[in-house]
Amino acid sequence: MTKKKMVSGITPSGTMTLGNYLGVVKQWVEFQNEYDMYIFIANLHAITMPQDKEKLRKNLKEVSTLYFACGMDANKSTIFLQSDVMEHAQLGWIMNTQSTMGELSRMTQFKDKSAKVESSGKESIPAGLFTYPTLMAADILMYDVDFVPVGVDQKQHIEIARDIAIRMNNKFGDLFTIPEALITKNNIKIMDLQDPTKKMSKSSTNPKAIITMLDKPEEIRSKIKAAVTDSENLIKYDFENKPGVTNLMNIYMILKGITKEQAEAHWNNKNYKDLKDDVAEAIVEMITPIQNRYNELYNSKEMEQWLEDGANKARKIAYKKLQKVQNNMGLNYKRK
Ligand code: AMP
Ligand code: TRP
Repeated sequence: MTKKKMVSGITPSGTMTLGNYLGVVKQWVEFQNEYDMYIFIANLHAITMPQDKEKLRKNLKEVSTLYFACGMDANKSTIFLQSDVMEHAQLGWIMNTQSTMGELSRMTQFKDKSAKVESSGKESIPAGLFTYPTLMAADILMYDVDFVPVGVDQKQHIEIARDIAIRMNNKFGDLFTIPEALITKNNIKIMDLQDPTKKMSKSSTNPKAIITMLDKPEEIRSKIKAAVTDSENLIKYDFENKPGVTNLMNIYMILKGITKEQAEAHWNNKNYKDLKDDVAEAIVEMITPIQNRYNELYNSKEMEQWLEDGANKARKIAYKKLQKVQNNMGLNYKRK
């Protein structure tokens, strides 16, 4: 039986966070045995926000090394850098012509990020930030996938990719498989340690608010120790009223694979210091072998080869898909 397919990626706009790992990467690693996976580093999406070129280079190398260090396997999955498969940008352009200003204006990520650029007072809003979802639709529809495993914040982008696919299939014949979002593990979003009402984001300006996959054990312990909780000193799973405590519980629950009830029982009659100590140690235990592997891989020829092989494999599929789309849309000189 042929395996079902999945595609996903991370934008290298900063170092991979604990949120990325627990939110998606950990599940990708588990999905590899069952699914045919296309996993890429979304460097073309990164430049929809202003980037420093040296930082971008460093970030994308870190993110790619972390994919492998976290357990993504080039023998099982197709792993590549988005810009190495140029068909993504070309299909992205086509998607621009098949989507509307109205639907793109409704994207909450555009509203949030453009407000951020504007409030910085330094830059104007790049047009690419507005058309971000059309490139993402190209990334997704290129590989005829069944599922797109992402965090809950990306759901709206999958919806628009589906809408574009349905519209184009109706207009130009059967071009694309209609994909489904696979929102990872119980919809859990890992929150900012200093403001637990917003998501932990790699572009955060406060380093104390996020844990990156490259933080040292001492940094992790001190960040968890300083994480915002509340003054009740009662360990209870209640995001509404206790977002800080609930976020720490979520981290532990995912790492240990336990339920809310088991977590509450574990900390029955314990205090916030116990909670924070346990959470910090669980993160350190998970992260140490990943960082050891990261250090082995960072400058290795082996990894460069994996990414090149991944791009070659993806390109073959992407080339065919783009030819078919162009043909059906009347872009070829001769009809094939
Ligand atoms: P980004 O960091 O925005 O490029 O996101 C890459 C992937 O990680 C997406 O599928 C996000 O939904 C997911 N993700 C990012 N931050 C978090 C978070 N704090 N908690 C859970 N998932 C996240
Ligand atoms: N927009 C996604 C994010 O920031 C990254 C991404 C780009 C992606 N293209 C994709 C995810 C295609 C899944 C499928 O998280």
